[in-house]
Amino acid sequence: MSSNPKISIIGAGNVGASAAYRALELDFCDVVLLDIVEGLPQGKALDMTQMLSVTGVSSQVIGTNSYDDTKDSDVVIITSGLARKPGMSRDDLVSTNTKIIKDVTEQVVKFSPNSKIIVVTNPLDAMTYVAHKVSGFPKERVVGMAGILDSARFKAFLSMELNTSVSKIETLVLGGHGDDMVPLKNYTTVSGVPISQLIEDSRLSDIIQRTRDGGAEIVKLLKTGSAFYAPGVSAVEMAYSIIFDERKLLPCCVFSSGQYKINEQFVGLPVILSSKGVEQIVEIKLSEDEHKELLESASHVKELCDLIDSFGIL
Ligand code: LAC
Repeated sequence: MSSNPKISIIGAGNVGASAAYRALELDFCDVVLLDIVEGLPQGKALDMTQMLSVTGVSSQVIGTNSYDDTKDSDVVIITSGLARKPGMSRDDLVSTNTKIIKDVTEQVVKFSPNSKIIVVTNPLDAMTYVAHKVSGFPKERVVGMAGILDSARFKAFLSMELNTSVSKIETLVLGGHGDDMVPLKNYTTVSGVPISQLIEDSRLSDIIQRTRDGGAEIVKLLKTGSAFYAPGVSAVEMAYSIIFDERKLLPCCVFSSGQYKINEQFVGLPVILSSKGVEQIVEIKLSEDEHKELLESASHVKELCDLIDSFGIL
């Protein structure tokens, strides 16, 4: 591998492979794609290496079953674990994926003790909690990917509704990555125009509901798995901001130490991502209803984390 920044992606399923593809497309890092299934990461990495001959990108990618190859990664993106099947909630995955994230995190810490970890596995907020607890890393260096994906879905649906370019739509979706996520109407604009001036309230509520169900809609269509292109790209957006110290304000799952009156737990909040990882949790003004919804969503995450604690395996 070259002297490029190094990203390891754990799990070479659809999300992991999409993240690897995106990172290589942006040509800013070398990528290690790891999976426990023999041949899977090697095959996908070889295919991507051949792709790079066409696209003319000089970054490198390898596929492996050995954590040795992940040594000294700058960023590790964890995608391992089961995905939802139709009818399942993200929470239904909790017990299996807790064990997987625990094992993966132990290896990540052993080989890349200075890395920043980005968790993608569901149930997202709870798995970020697991990775943080198992790693022993400072809270700034463990962050979960959900808010970018949920905001992306909201933006996509708004752009479809308004028949306008998605590039001028801004929004924030906070809270846990679940049915009770909190899309913020007051921070949703099109070229600076508040969304309330463009879409009437009842229609906007339908679009917000479709955003909340955005993952399930795709699970239902695919039948054998869940979304992967948008999740993979969203994780790389975070890795990029960290590696280049971009200091982008992004909604991410982070450990709140009292911000938004949420104590000592992970949940989706607006943060600045820098080379430190989470540089700062940004406290924006929420309406009373939005704050209440955020606290409810956070308390749901807390219930899941308490359930994980009751397994006694961390
Ligand atoms: C989704 C899964 C990845 O929202 O959580 O599509």
